[in-house]
Amino acid sequence: MTPLLITIDGPAGAGKSTVSCRLAEQLGYTYVDTGALYRAVALAAVTKGCVPDDDRGLAEICTHLALRFENSLKGPRLYANGDDITERIRTPEITMLASAVSARHVVREYLLEVQRAMGRRGGAVFEGRDMGTVVFPDADVKFYLDADLDTRALRRFKELAAGESSIDLSKVREAMKRRDENDSGRALAPLKPAADAIRIDSAPLTVDEVVELMLRKIRASNN
Ligand code: DC
Repeated sequence: MTPLLITIDGPAGAGKSTVSCRLAEQLGYTYVDTGALYRAVALAAVTKGCVPDDDRGLAEICTHLALRFENSLKGPRLYANGDDITERIRTPEITMLASAVSARHVVREYLLEVQRAMGRRGGAVFEGRDMGTVVFPDADVKFYLDADLDTRALRRFKELAAGESSIDLSKVREAMKRRDENDSGRALAPLKPAADAIRIDSAPLTVDEVVELMLRKIRASNN
């Protein structure tokens, strides 16, 4: 099978990261978490004291930001100008800020090129919000992974509760709903399924079932 470019879009908590990572593993492909790139810009903005609607400040940050993924035994690590920022981009503050900076044109333009450069050789699974619609409109196979808000909030709550005991499910649900509204309601590259995306509702399925279903669809599309 020639190396394909596969995209997986969908809202937060739909299971994209777990599924994309597993799918890439099964196919021997590279896994690219594009949300991490937006988080990296958000982290650089906080560090420099730049607010999310300061387009000049964001442009300056992007010009001096070199991002690269590197594989490790614990999965892909993200480096910004040589610093490993893999853990630092996972705080609730960076999560909301990433959503805010992702609505800015300067940031999307910069990351468009970064992502396309990463996908040039194919043999990759790209996960994000606009992979199939904007970044790789000619991708070989496109998926849109979704689930209802309650299911997604509960999944995220369980992940967070595994690390901390004082987390409130209703707050997780509220933050997720707000982020969905930001990501789907923005003018630029809003979250939506590409017209030719294969839609999968992950709510009633296990991770293995979703991956299996995707592998079947990929094989079928390649025949
Ligand atoms: O996938 P994530 O939760 O790590 O993404 C963080 C934010 O980045 C998300 O709220 C929206 C934005 N994002 C985007 O606009 N386009 C992408 N391709 C990936 C993420």
